[in-house]
Amino acid sequence: MTSLSASPRKKLLAVLEGERFEKPPIWIMRQAGRYLAEYREVRAKAKNFIEFCYSPDLATEVTLQPIRRFGFDAAILFSDILVVPDALGLPVSFVENEGPRLQPLDPALNLSELHGEVDLDRLAPVFQAIRQIKAALPAETTFLGFCGAPWTVASYMIAGKGTPELAPSRLLAYRNPEFLERLINRLVEASIAYLCRQIEAGVDALQIFESFAGALTGDGIGKYSIEPITRIINGVRAKHPHAKFIVFGRGSGGNHVRYAAETGANAIGIDWAVDPKWAAKTLQPLKPVQGNLDPLAVVAGGDALNRQTDHILEALSGGPHIFNLGHGIVPETPVAHVEQLLRRIRG
Ligand code: CP3
Repeated sequence: MTSLSASPRKKLLAVLEGERFEKPPIWIMRQAGRYLAEYREVRAKAKNFIEFCYSPDLATEVTLQPIRRFGFDAAILFSDILVVPDALGLPVSFVENEGPRLQPLDPALNLSELHGEVDLDRLAPVFQAIRQIKAALPAETTFLGFCGAPWTVASYMIAGKGTPELAPSRLLAYRNPEFLERLINRLVEASIAYLCRQIEAGVDALQIFESFAGALTGDGIGKYSIEPITRIINGVRAKHPHAKFIVFGRGSGGNHVRYAAETGANAIGIDWAVDPKWAAKTLQPLKPVQGNLDPLAVVAGGDALNRQTDHILEALSGGPHIFNLGHGIVPETPVAHVEQLLRRIRG
């Protein structure tokens, strides 16, 4: 039997295909997070953060919370970029109020600490969560999966934690580029396998987080970021030719153009330091643009929030645009300010 009513359109997917809307679709990086009381309540039930990521019922619940509360145009899978090193054999833990911890890789061991391939069985709870979320999402909501880009993930594996200016991985790139290349290659293969399984479990599109793009030199950005991301996108499309990608190269400045022109991305995520007028002129003719409100404008609220929102809407409304923040929403953000932002955008 065929249905008489056409299924509702997924607005965000349409933008990834180049469509422009008067009112852009919106989602928020880290939209499932500590600024929501209902998130904190679920979070308190999990033994630790990594177990939380591997609990399909809890991950499903927190992925859906911001959709229920705000009706965002996209849901992003609740997980973390560091499940990939974990599934490669490098256990990850999270220290409360500090962040992730891993056993730093020792270049002398030549990657012998890692499995040859990513252990997809370890990641089975993530795929289970995807199936559950997919079944529960409204038909018009785009479902995003994700992974970290190899340079960003490698930087955590090399330093064993977040470091302000990435000195450990930047130094390794000078001292032992062969090792860094081997590690990045391993992460490219792992990411292809992981993202293919996310698509097979039900996500509509994928975001690649290159959170540390801004730490690379002009030479390094091609070798360690743009080329590996391009290989991931091509590798996934070899199996899933219509796979859609948003590439977010945080802090990459003028190199956002290279992500747009060279990687095969369907859209380019821009951070809050990018002038949206520049993005409209330079990036939007190449690819749809996602971004880029300063997360602190949402903390501030009031006129400042309205002004910043209008500035981005005006600059980017002439072409395909997905409204988002320029980085993750911070825990201090009042929920009322997120509501204010949504009213401003949706009218
Ligand atoms: O966006 C979403 O709502 C989906 C879930 C998601 C998380 N992490 C959940 C999370 C996504 C897409 C990520 C990606 C991620 N994780 C990135 C790339 C994006 C970025 O922020 O640049 C990075 C670098 C990480 C690594 C990571 N995870 C760090 C540095 C931290 C600690 C910092 C912090 O904000 O606490 C995490 C923990 C983390 N990942 C939290 C959440 C909701 C907070 C932990 C908690 O609830 O206790």
